Amino acid sequence: METIEQIRQKAILNHIPIIMDETLQEVGKILQELNPKTILEIGTAVGYSAIRFSKYLSEDGYIDTIERDSERVKEAKQNIANLNLENKIHIFEGDALEILPKLNGPYDVVFIDAAKGKYPIFLNEALRMLRNNGIILADNVLYKGYVMSDYNKHKQRTAVRGLREFLKNLQENKNLSTEILETGDGLAISRKIN
Ligand SMILES: C[S@@+](CC[C@H](N)C(=O)[O-])C[C@H]1O[C@@H](n2cnc3c(N)ncnc32)[C@H](O)[C@@H]1O
Repeated sequence: METIEQIRQKAILNHIPIIMDETLQEVGKILQELNPKTILEIGTAVGYSAIRFSKYLSEDGYIDTIERDSERVKEAKQNIANLNLENKIHIFEGDALEILPKLNGPYDVVFIDAAKGKYPIFLNEALRMLRNNGIILADNVLYKGYVMSDYNKHKQRTAVRGLREFLKNLQENKNLSTEILETGDGLAISRKIN
């Protein structure tokens, strides 16, 4: 049976991208204060962040999390079962673009951590399901500095374009109060204010 630290070590060893320690610390502070009942995560990987977030849930709270890679889903399910968290973390297997429209929430927190080019679509779905005073958290929004520079390599172009559009949409949305931290690879924190 693996501990959370072993899950983290194994993910790093296998080059599976998981939340960075400093980002986890920031998100942890927010979740601790909010004590959410419902969290939606887009991008489970092997369940590491969902497992970490689960300790901040209110008594009967739960996390819905979406992952399209079947190998990662298998490992995440194993990790969640090993830690007896099946009643708190529910995995939805498939492409978030197909799964999100089938969910209704409402969620207190939405954590966006999947395909960067799709962040604007994820944002629309998050807004549809977010409770008043809820929070949208999005990781990797500065993407190694590419988002704020004129860097334009083909491989990253879709991601950079998606992230720029996402940040613009956040900042122009009058129902959100947004803060962007340089923590980790860039963390956007948006509170729904009405
Ligand atoms: C950065 S990892 C998630 C890490 C995880 N949140 C953690 O910190 O432990 C992103 C994951 O999103 C998944 N993903 C990317 N695009 C997706 C999509 N459109 N639908 C579902 N999963 C997606 C990838 O397969 C990958 O495992």
